[in-house]
Amino acid sequence: MNKFELKYRLSFFIGCVLILLSAGVQAQQKLQQFKPGALWMDDKGNHINAHGGGILFYNGMYYWFGEHKGEGSNNAYVGVTVYASKDLYNWKNEGVAFNVNDDKASLTQRGSIIERPKVIHNKHTKQFVMYFHLELAGQGYGAAYAAVAVSDKVTGPYKFLRASRVNPGHWPLNIPGGDRRQRINPDDYKTWWTDKWREGVEKGLFVQEHLYSGQMSRDMTLFVDDDSKAYHIYSSEENLTLHIAELSDDYTQHTGKYIRIAPAGHNEAPAIFKRNGKYYMITSGCTGWDPNAARLLVADQIMGEWKLLPNPCVGDGADKTFQSQGTYILPVAGKKDAFIFMADRWRPKNPIDGRYVWLPVQFKNELPVLSWLDEWDLKVFD
Ligand code: DGJ
Repeated sequence: MNKFELKYRLSFFIGCVLILLSAGVQAQQKLQQFKPGALWMDDKGNHINAHGGGILFYNGMYYWFGEHKGEGSNNAYVGVTVYASKDLYNWKNEGVAFNVNDDKASLTQRGSIIERPKVIHNKHTKQFVMYFHLELAGQGYGAAYAAVAVSDKVTGPYKFLRASRVNPGHWPLNIPGGDRRQRINPDDYKTWWTDKWREGVEKGLFVQEHLYSGQMSRDMTLFVDDDSKAYHIYSSEENLTLHIAELSDDYTQHTGKYIRIAPAGHNEAPAIFKRNGKYYMITSGCTGWDPNAARLLVADQIMGEWKLLPNPCVGDGADKTFQSQGTYILPVAGKKDAFIFMADRWRPKNPIDGRYVWLPVQFKNELPVLSWLDEWDLKVFD
């Protein structure tokens, strides 16, 4: 080995040691701030892998459930992960809450698509109930299924119950009886985005088409109201129209009662919260993995009417939701009017590297406002 080679090897070795040391220090250091868009390490020093996620607060602990993502593919090769935290900054990796499997006959086999998992707790059955958007292996985004899984333990393992489209045979509450009898001929509405087509969608073109198979269900969230009633909120009708569907008392089934919101409004990524008796929903438009401007919807009753309001984001980056797409709005336990907007900064070429953008929800004239912060902590709510 010549002198040059020796020097090169030595500096490479020292570099490696320094990187390992700093990773170790980072893993041990307690975080005390949110840094939207930055790498976010768990207790083991790995970037948190819980995309499109949601959080359940249970017994003094926050549980963050999300999509496990690998490199180069959005498909599910692991399942739904779960992390636990007491302070919302520092997260312990609790492993896989819902596992995909190797059974080629299974709907949740390795290689299917599992998106936007959310978990709620049922006080009566004491069960934890997980819903997620499921697409079948090798079938792209064609299935548009809602999947349900349950567990007696918050961190799982969650047992798969079923996956299907939603509420087969049921008309939405806000398509009145008379209108249900009129036959909408799909051949009359072949060209999308025309005024005539919009009218058709509004009248229920896709609701009618999917009436017997059940309504499509893609991007989704769950919401438990103060009276313990739970709701499944999802992009339906080819992602054109949001639905809010009531869940059974044990939370594992749909009751057949649902409403449609903003027909042909093309809303995805619904995230919802309640403040002072009013319901607020922040959604995105539909541009695949690319960010777009968020939308705000407000209602006095969960089952509507919902009113569409302008983008709640303000300032630099507002037109692209600060390069992210919402996934959940978390009420901070023990603090009044404290809500965190949780969003994903997708990295479709390397999904595991997707980042999290968490921002505090501020209020102006009783309406939520989101603005960018490089870093922040929970004191903003005091
Ligand atoms: C955007 C959605 O919000 C994501 O959950 C995912 O379905 C992608 N579209 C797929 O393109």
